[in-house]
Amino acid sequence: MQYCAYRLADIRTARFRSDGVKSFQKRPPPFRSTSLMYIDTERGLTRYPPGRARNQRTPGRSGRPPRICCGRKESGAMEYHEIIAATGAGAAHPGGFGGTLDFLADAEVSPGQRVLEVGCGTGRTSCALAAMGCAVTAVDRSEAMLEKAKRRAALLGATIDFVQGDLRALPFEAASFDIVFAESVTAFAPPAEAYREYARVLRSGGRVWDRELYKIEADAPELDAEMYALYGSAPLPTKSGWLESLKAAGFVRVGVWTPRDGRPFVVGSAELEADPLQFIDLDRVLRPDVAAFTARNAAFLRRFGEALSYGVFIGENP
Ligand SMILES: C[S@@+](CC[C@H](N)C(=O)[O-])C[C@H]1O[C@@H](n2cnc3c(N)ncnc32)[C@H](O)[C@@H]1O
Repeated sequence: MQYCAYRLADIRTARFRSDGVKSFQKRPPPFRSTSLMYIDTERGLTRYPPGRARNQRTPGRSGRPPRICCGRKESGAMEYHEIIAATGAGAAHPGGFGGTLDFLADAEVSPGQRVLEVGCGTGRTSCALAAMGCAVTAVDRSEAMLEKAKRRAALLGATIDFVQGDLRALPFEAASFDIVFAESVTAFAPPAEAYREYARVLRSGGRVWDRELYKIEADAPELDAEMYALYGSAPLPTKSGWLESLKAAGFVRVGVWTPRDGRPFVVGSAELEADPLQFIDLDRVLRPDVAAFTARNAAFLRRFGEALSYGVFIGENP
């Protein structure tokens, strides 16, 4: 039986006034929910994985509640990137796929530009760039992500050069690209190290576009600790921290992207966030450690969502 799935856009972005009229926040919150809609190709649509009732807990082998999966790999629990790869998420970054398209509508992308997407995940953004006529190279260290990205590209007829590699030592010659694009990736490496590599592979005058979360207050030890536990990431920079890292790597004209005509950020619709080519490894996403991760992640967002924001950090290689 074949399953594919899509994520529902976060209804938190929509607010209903007392008169029932729907209005939207100016900016979407940093995260979107990741509820999954399963399509059973034989039985039709079901909201929950077949055979599992809502709220039904998957017991651990011992019958005890499942252990929490954390960034540091312990006792076989899947870590964050393995979970994302198993879910096949196509836009595992703040702002979702709507945010990506919103940015690309403003970015000066032209056919034939050599774009490197670092940490491409399952390749949805790379495929959008290829559809815009760019010559796309996509790198990720995860074989599982790349396998799904290649499947997506093949189904869409997109020509993309997929390469397995580490962004801290990119397997490319200096000055190979016009643009380096990253979405929720650089936060997982020391930003200074990553940005030096991005600068190295960019030609003179080339640009970096990096969509990343940032924390609003620099001093947030509990937030840092929980992010490390959940995602295995080092303390998140503040907005100015990201900009300083870009400057330290030699980038000039650094800044944070704002929509060109001053329009508010577009809030992605459920239809836009739906990813018809999201391939889920059901056996893996139904594991108890994944359920535990999801619950802890939701608690994290409830507690710290207001302490986080995000931006697209941009710079030019001199
Ligand atoms: C949160 S996911 C985002 C994926 C994709 N950019 C998206 O928005 O859907 C982070 C991605 O970065 C990749 N990644 C993390 N650290 C990396 C590294 N050091 N080198 C290459 N890829 C890395 C992970 O494998 C994963 O695919």
